[in-house]
Amino acid sequence: MVEYPEYSPGLEGIIAGESAISRIDSERNRLLSRGYDLVDLTENVSFEEVAYLLLHTDLPSDSQLSDFGAQLRQQRDLTEEVLAILRSVPPFTHPMTLLRTAVSSLGHSDPDAGDDSHDANVRKAIRLLAKVPTILTTAHRLALGQTPVEPRADLDQAANLLYMLRGEEAQAYEAEAMNVSLILYAEHGFNASAFAARVTVSTLSNLYAAITSGIGALAGPLHGGANEAAMEMLLKVGSVENARPFALAAMASKAKIMGFGHREYKSGDSRVPIMKRVARQIAEATGNSLWPDVGDAIEETMIAEKGIHPNVDFPCAYAYYMMDIPIPLYTPIFVSSRISGWSAHVVEQLDNNRIIRPIHHYTGEAHRPYVPLKER
Ligand code: COA
Repeated sequence: MVEYPEYSPGLEGIIAGESAISRIDSERNRLLSRGYDLVDLTENVSFEEVAYLLLHTDLPSDSQLSDFGAQLRQQRDLTEEVLAILRSVPPFTHPMTLLRTAVSSLGHSDPDAGDDSHDANVRKAIRLLAKVPTILTTAHRLALGQTPVEPRADLDQAANLLYMLRGEEAQAYEAEAMNVSLILYAEHGFNASAFAARVTVSTLSNLYAAITSGIGALAGPLHGGANEAAMEMLLKVGSVENARPFALAAMASKAKIMGFGHREYKSGDSRVPIMKRVARQIAEATGNSLWPDVGDAIEETMIAEKGIHPNVDFPCAYAYYMMDIPIPLYTPIFVSSRISGWSAHVVEQLDNNRIIRPIHHYTGEAHRPYVPLKER
């Protein structure tokens, strides 16, 4: 019998694998993807470049980027099978539920189905990156009884997503805000959904199964679902004056404030200042700073009273709200970006695979004598 000296609830602090994809530089409190600081990336590149970086390890050259962009733009259309699923779901199905089903179904018709090699998985990831924005915007418009908007090959991922959602081109500052949020959402180490994806594929299952697992894990409000939950909470707060009393009452009742706290960052999520700046730019462009102001007031109270900082979902939530993005699409938009990180994890796991199979500390009864059915 092996001895198990350490148990950490929620696997806090447990090293569960090796990865060369991203890391937190805790001295500088910065997130680095493939060694590049996210501050530099958000200031200089498009989400496509970051997706390429995650999938191919290096930033692309000019020609590599245009080839990658072309692959994305050519594969945005949906199959009839997926469209039939989107049309047939019960009304009020949450977009994350629908997205999980639709993404899973894409695996049936993928030209590389059955090929789980490194290169085939990268090709599948690119197809998913191309199609997920079309799925989420098409599903949304169908649910509203609107005609879906065809993707536009002249727009990048961020601008095309907003275009397909609205049927008209977004303002430049909105496309840039979306671009930054997609970069910030792309990858973050061994979080619950990336880990779920790695566990799934470690059995030598396939990329679609792993991404479907990732979507399922991301949906909960303790993970990606927090951006929607945070905005629902902000709407209840409603004003700067109400922010402190609301936060104090939540703390007193031990309720969690959504969009705050993080397993890895204890002195603040490095992505927050970047997204807060972007949200302020939207507020300036729209002439309405209510939500960043309410957000800041809650943040001040949380830090002063509990030392708990916001995570990236908090400013993303109110930035999306200021761009009139419907709240149930916030987590699906997160998926449209995180596909790149999850896929990088899937490929990395398979490149050096060993099944992920932890153990547990048994807390049940030691031994019970068998009692025949009629005597129980
Ligand atoms: N609001 C209020 N208190 C919070 C909090 C929040 N959002 N997040 C953490 N805390 C408190 C806990 O109540 C706990 O306090 P206690 O020690 O007095 O009981 C302490 O901080 C540690 O929290 P815990 O939930 O054990 O941390 P964790 O590492 O297991 O969980 C999260 C991390 C992210 C799941 C957690 O902070 C959370 O639920 N946040 C809200 C959801 C969210 O925004 N998720 C997105 C993450 S990117």
